[in-house]
Amino acid sequence: MVDSLKILITGGAGYIGSHACVVAAEAGYEPVVLDSLINSNPIAIQRVGDIIGEKPVLEVGDVNDRAFLDQVFKRHQFAAVIHMAGLKAVGESTEQALRYYSNNVGGAMALCEAMAAHGVGNLIFSSSATVYGDAAEMPVSEAAPRSATNPYGMSKLMVEHILEDQVKADQHTQQHFWNIACLRYFNPVGAHPSGKIGEDPRNIPNNLAPYIAQVAVGKREQVSVFGDTYTTIDGTGVRDYIHVMDLVDGHIAALNYLLKRESGFSAWNLGTGKGYSVLQMIAAFEAACGKPIPHQIMDKRSGDIAECWADASKALSDLGWRATRDLEEMVADAWRWQENNPDGFGQ
Ligand code: NAD
Ligand code: UFG
Repeated sequence: MVDSLKILITGGAGYIGSHACVVAAEAGYEPVVLDSLINSNPIAIQRVGDIIGEKPVLEVGDVNDRAFLDQVFKRHQFAAVIHMAGLKAVGESTEQALRYYSNNVGGAMALCEAMAAHGVGNLIFSSSATVYGDAAEMPVSEAAPRSATNPYGMSKLMVEHILEDQVKADQHTQQHFWNIACLRYFNPVGAHPSGKIGEDPRNIPNNLAPYIAQVAVGKREQVSVFGDTYTTIDGTGVRDYIHVMDLVDGHIAALNYLLKRESGFSAWNLGTGKGYSVLQMIAAFEAACGKPIPHQIMDKRSGDIAECWADASKALSDLGWRATRDLEEMVADAWRWQENNPDGFGQ
């Protein structure tokens, strides 16, 4: 029986984590953030406090540091953990494979060991649509075969297998300790409607939406469109962009589900079920900010797939969750954040 509504959010100072703090607090949970700040700024946590009226506790440290984890688990009694801490740049992962495995796989294992030692078995893991590799059929469902084409994707897939095996081990030993959800995110974009928190990439953005936003605000000259010869609506890559507020709402739905279930393993796609092309994204941003976004067609980016969008029906039937915000709202919120904070949280 859970006697605390404290939720540990690792990586909670990051883009998705800071939004998760807001909705967790609004749903009646008390978020506690654990973050090394390797890719985030503590000002994000202050801003979360501005939105929800109370600044969440921030425990600064590394999820690979078992002694630090023990201190955190002794200080707080958690009902569940949302594990978002991780490195996420696909290109960087191909050059720093060991660092990615060590941080993402090692971090998840250290966290699970600490959870087991402190009697916390409810876990939500930030997985990714990247675990479907280059899926043969769209929309892609949770039952599709999994594969990975880069160390980042492989680190997510490895953690999924480790978590699945933990639950199987429980079943073999007649225990009912682990209660785990892997949430496979499609392409999160947008920001909290207040414009106080949002995506703040440290260097040149790897992803399309923050890149467009930085061009729109005048920080970068033009968007490179990576290829226009895919067999898609206009030849450019198609993705399932999901508003970050919908994405984090999906975590609360999963959390509520886990807290009612004794144990087990589940995976859910968090996407909208709709795909948009690069050119459609650019056009949507142009409409939101009221100015043209200079862009140029370039070569395909190596490792990219043509299209990917979710079959999100399992999350609807199991969790009663579905994305409700459309592309217009995603880009309007992304633009509000970028326009109000041209330098992000300030470096
Ligand atoms: P982010 O980089 O903004 O947030 C991740 C946070 O984790 C950062 O605050 C960083 O400082 C922290 N962190 C990294 N390694 C750590 C460690 N060893 N110990 C403690 N803190 C550590 O990224 P995000 O976009 O918010 O992504 C959150 C999670 O969602 C990540 O696990 C990412 O792989 C996953 N994900 C993201 C996307 C996306 O497109 N943004 C898509 C699919 C999955
Ligand atoms: N793109 C451009 N120009 C850019 C950036 C991207 O044309 O400057 C294109 C890409 O070629 C692709 C689309 O925009 O067609 C989306 O690219 P992103 O880099 O924004 O997103 P990806 O789908 O490639 O990957 C992202 C994350 C992965 C994650 C995946 C699924 O980077 O980590 O979404 O969640 F696994």
